[in-house]
Amino acid sequence: MRAITISKPGGPEVLTWSEVPDPKPESGEVVIEVAATAVNRADLMQRQGKYAPPPGASPYPGLEASGTIVEVGRGVTDWSVGDEVTALLAGGGYAERVAVPAVQLLPVPRGVTLVEAAALPEVAATVWSNVFSTARFQPGEVLLVHGGAGGIGTFALQLGSAYGARVFCTASGPKLEKCLTYGAERAIDYRSEDFVKVVKAETGDHGADIVLDIMGAKYLARNVDVLAPGGRLVVIGLQGGRKADLDLGQLLAKRGSVHATALRSRPVVEKARIIAEVREHVWPLIEAGRVRPVIDRVLAMQDAGEAHRVVAAGEHVGKVLLVR
Ligand SMILES: NC(=O)c1ccc[n+]([C@@H]2O[C@H](COP(=O)([O-])OP(=O)(O)OC[C@H]3O[C@@H](n4cnc5c(N)ncnc54)[C@H](OP(=O)(O)O)[C@@H]3O)[C@@H](O)[C@H]2O)c1
Repeated sequence: MRAITISKPGGPEVLTWSEVPDPKPESGEVVIEVAATAVNRADLMQRQGKYAPPPGASPYPGLEASGTIVEVGRGVTDWSVGDEVTALLAGGGYAERVAVPAVQLLPVPRGVTLVEAAALPEVAATVWSNVFSTARFQPGEVLLVHGGAGGIGTFALQLGSAYGARVFCTASGPKLEKCLTYGAERAIDYRSEDFVKVVKAETGDHGADIVLDIMGAKYLARNVDVLAPGGRLVVIGLQGGRKADLDLGQLLAKRGSVHATALRSRPVVEKARIIAEVREHVWPLIEAGRVRPVIDRVLAMQDAGEAHRVVAAGEHVGKVLLVR
């Protein structure tokens, strides 16, 4: 088969569509003939040599893919050859075929095409596991989403508002308007406004019950500042650095908590639990049309370098897909 390989750490030009060995399904795995995959920021870091795949994972980039099952390994009873699926991967989505534990598969939701379905696993699993499981979201709570126009952001805005959150987000430029269409009550321009002031002003000084953060160090102090009493800050990205001072006194006075999680390195058994929850609690909202995949553009797999350039430059809203 062919896959996008990384010839050496570097820029988008090191991504090469190359001949590689076919994957074989281990016990409990299936092999998917890939229809589409999606670009995640982790892929850009992997390309730069800054984010190695976890042990045992495919060396090729790609944390999610949709396609058709072409081979079923020992012990797999719930899925058959010919089933159309979408999958959460530890790597290997930028390829013609990929092996994946069957517990990380989801059916293609009704009303979504096979290609569009590649936009869903990573965002659905990340938003569900962090906002709903880790931060234990309750209807009516205030949810602040940083980077509301991104892949994660556009999904978090939709899922939060579908579950009855008051949703606020940060974004920039023309993307602010888009965020309102995905469920944000107010989109805050992080270049010219102070999100702490805006969220407090709009919530009668209450603040945010949950902050879904992708900036890390740069926003830590302000994220703690914006937390409501009993608020939960969940850090899932470090786009603004990894080290910063934390005012424990302020956190303690608010009875607040800070969490940080990564999905890719979780054991298969945890991913299986998250996928089962996503299928039960998120998939029905997608099938009802209340939460939709947000796809900025679809490029050919061979144009993975251009897709990485688009994502690095922040030219997109939602997800960038690669198709065979
Ligand atoms: N921990 C996990 O398990 C996990 C899983 C998936 C993703 N992630 C992480 O989550 C983050 C978002 O992923 P994604 O796929 O949504 O990426 P993305 O589509 O590239 O979105 C990134 C967003 O960051 C926003 N941004 C840039 N500077 C900002 C700032 N100063 N304040 C607020 N927002 C800012 C951009 O907004 P503008 O374009 O408006 O400037 C953009 O919408 C990434 O860091 C990714 O690595 C973590």
